[in-house]
Amino acid sequence: MTTTLVTGIGELTTHDPSAPGGAGPFAVVIDGEHVAWTGRARDAPTCDEAVDVDGRAVLPGWVDSHTHLVFAGDRGEEFARRVAGQPYEASGIQVTVDATRAAADDDLAARLRRHVAEAARQGTTCLETKTGYGLTVADEARAARIAAAGVDEVTFLGAHLTPAGTTTDAYLDLVCGPMLDAVADHVRWIDVFCEDGAFDGDAAARVLAAGAARGLGGRVHGNQLGPGPGVAVAVAAGAASVDHATHLTDADVDALAGADTVATLLPACDLSTGQPPPPARRLVDAGVTVALASNANPGSCYTTSMALCVALAVLQCGLSVPEAVRAATLGGARALRRDDVGHLRVGARADLHVLDAPTVVHLAQRPGVPLTAAVWRAGRRLSVTPEEVRP
Ligand code: NIG
Repeated sequence: MTTTLVTGIGELTTHDPSAPGGAGPFAVVIDGEHVAWTGRARDAPTCDEAVDVDGRAVLPGWVDSHTHLVFAGDRGEEFARRVAGQPYEASGIQVTVDATRAAADDDLAARLRRHVAEAARQGTTCLETKTGYGLTVADEARAARIAAAGVDEVTFLGAHLTPAGTTTDAYLDLVCGPMLDAVADHVRWIDVFCEDGAFDGDAAARVLAAGAARGLGGRVHGNQLGPGPGVAVAVAAGAASVDHATHLTDADVDALAGADTVATLLPACDLSTGQPPPPARRLVDAGVTVALASNANPGSCYTTSMALCVALAVLQCGLSVPEAVRAATLGGARALRRDDVGHLRVGARADLHVLDAPTVVHLAQRPGVPLTAAVWRAGRRLSVTPEEVRP
């Protein structure tokens, strides 16, 4: 197995409490797919090859724990109407459902690959995506199969919206029965959009219970467009995460503080849909584990930029830069209940993100500037920019 020394690191974020602090330079040793050593550069062992990052900051790759990337079509016109004053409405999902059903398998797979590559070029090394733009047994099964071939984690979101031409009760029978059977081999998670205009608390609890009976972990889209039962349902079901969590009561915050359910915040979505910023400061102060994710999808939030989410969490939501970086790495890993990503402790998957900056502070100080200089995923260096880090 080849060992690689990544050295000359000006600032190293590992999320390892035992890592040396103080001034660099620091180094990381990659052995095959894993992190084998971290510490001060002067103490580093000899390796087969070395890459000097020349004082740049290194952190774990982003863990984007919430995206919807199996889709076709474009909703630019809807976005234009929104910025002209129309509110975001979940009914726009049906537009993407129609386009996705009409697309060929190869087209959906190619679009997914393109978006995953776009995210990777910006430092995302672990990515979850959902079904939810098929909403028939065959179309959801196809989306699950395509997603499983393209990303780290797949979530079944048949309960995204009741499609035109059926009732909610009849559709839930399908979601919790034949549709779940058809996707179960390809997915690890089940999700439900618990919101006025989508599914109520009882329906959400039923979907999560059906998934749990098939061995799937739960996630909930909740409290996105207004207060509602999403958080309570997620916590009661022991869901891994409640996502959006924008409109929270004190009882919601208390419930999350006493639970294992991660609050996955999607600040780029709230910006794009005219919602208030998510209450990140309030949640962190209450002791809730918080994740940041992109929510990349063609409707409510068409961005794969985790750096934007970090900048918004700092500039709009009151997190410090280290808190926001932690939420976008370790927080995402917690939301996906994974121990192998989101940190750079010895034994972690070697997912390294090298910034074209001396510290992570630049992520918020220089919003909108592409700062990814190099990326390793599972020990393999990806091609991210024409101008490579000096070897
Ligand atoms: O997370 N909330 C529901 N689902 C997506 C929106 C999808 C869409 O608008 O197409 C979300 O924002």
